[in-house]
Amino acid sequence: MEESSKGDVFGRRTFLDYMIGFGVTSWALLTVYVTGAYLWPSKKSIGTNTEDSVSIPLSDVPEGSSRKIRYKANPAIVVRTKEGVFALSAVCPHLGCLVNWHDGEKLIECPCHAAKFDLRGNVLGGPAPKPLETFKAEIKENVIKIG
Ligand code: FES
Repeated sequence: MEESSKGDVFGRRTFLDYMIGFGVTSWALLTVYVTGAYLWPSKKSIGTNTEDSVSIPLSDVPEGSSRKIRYKANPAIVVRTKEGVFALSAVCPHLGCLVNWHDGEKLIECPCHAAKFDLRGNVLGGPAPKPLETFKAEIKENVIKIG
């Protein structure tokens, strides 16, 4: 009995240790990937536009919602409210995470350290050292024009 357990180099316990290690490593890598994709969306998901103006169908941004786009090669966020449309840089001036619109609170918030901004880009709270850059945005014939 003792001989078989000594000769059992790859026994049940070792197998379980490897499986736990594999599971923990997989979970950690998936978490890093999902977090990275959320904070820094790929060019494919927000476009590759480098033009000085961008047009978006009005139906793509229903009232009370937002959409991230690429404007002048950088991530931007377009927000549509009852008051109209607003376009701002989506890059937080603190450490560069991408901000999100929260319609319930009527503010833009950075998911990294909770900097908050109004629709004019002004800092409402958190560690952001300066406002979000804003861009001209208007609705013309069911199209949102930025720039
Ligand atoms: S990166 Fe946005 S608050 Fe820190």
